[in-house]
Amino acid sequence: MAVTIKPLHPVFAGEVSGVDLTKPLSRDEVTAIDEGMTKYGVLVFHDQNITDEQQIAFSRNFGPLEVKARPGNIRKASESRLGAGIGDLSNLDKNGKIISADDRQWFFKLGDRLWHSDSSYAEIPAKYSLLSGRVVPSWGGRTEFADMRAAYDALDERTRAEVEDLICEHSQIFSRQQLGFTEYKDEERAMMAPVRHRLVRTHPVTGRKSLFLSAHIGGIVGWPMPEARAFVRDLMEHATQPQFVYSHKWTQYDLVIWDNRTTMHRVRRYDDLNMVRDLRRTTTKSDGPTAEQVAA
Ligand SMILES: [Fe+2]
Repeated sequence: MAVTIKPLHPVFAGEVSGVDLTKPLSRDEVTAIDEGMTKYGVLVFHDQNITDEQQIAFSRNFGPLEVKARPGNIRKASESRLGAGIGDLSNLDKNGKIISADDRQWFFKLGDRLWHSDSSYAEIPAKYSLLSGRVVPSWGGRTEFADMRAAYDALDERTRAEVEDLICEHSQIFSRQQLGFTEYKDEERAMMAPVRHRLVRTHPVTGRKSLFLSAHIGGIVGWPMPEARAFVRDLMEHATQPQFVYSHKWTQYDLVIWDNRTTMHRVRRYDDLNMVRDLRRTTTKSDGPTAEQVAA
């Protein structure tokens, strides 16, 4: 059976059929999916009841998995429910119980509700994120995606010239600050020191430009902070208009891949105290830093 892709939205996002992700893929299947990612930025696969090991093996077709120089969460490895190589995006603790509403780790995870690009707070940010829906809530919990290529194309000429060479500072401290979560231990604060990224990225295959926006942005190099934050807020508003957004309603065993270089995403609210949402993520890393890092 050949891999086929059907568009889900006028500007990006496709639905893939004709492939079983529990099995090793042929070179042609990998190429078709990779080309689909280049074109669509987001790909949705249905009915993929895969194990963590199968998800990891599938993800490796698209490059090395992300091994972060710094952790993506304040949770300690010893508290982790899942094994190495797979990220736990659930509302469960290591014993499989729903995390309590006043848990500090849960407050931190709520940052996923803000529009962001995965690992933009790392010097080498993520390329593809691959998210598998093992248990999905019956209400809420959609994942929304926004196409940063279409958002870039729709900027007026003056703004496009203005953003061209800007460098932004990204940190998880900035995204959590927006939610009023500001208390950290010294070692957590050190782990989340800001990194620098270009605001405009160019896709290595297509040469197409896109906005590299994320809730993790807290400043623009050389700009006064209020001016920078007001501008970034304007750009975020522009980039997440409905015409650039695909909203994914999860069905059990969906697997969704997105390109963090060309899209942003956020999770929507759900009944996290009463409903289990067990989503598991693998991540591949992009080729290198987008900007030179200069010690602050
Ligand atoms: Fe994310």
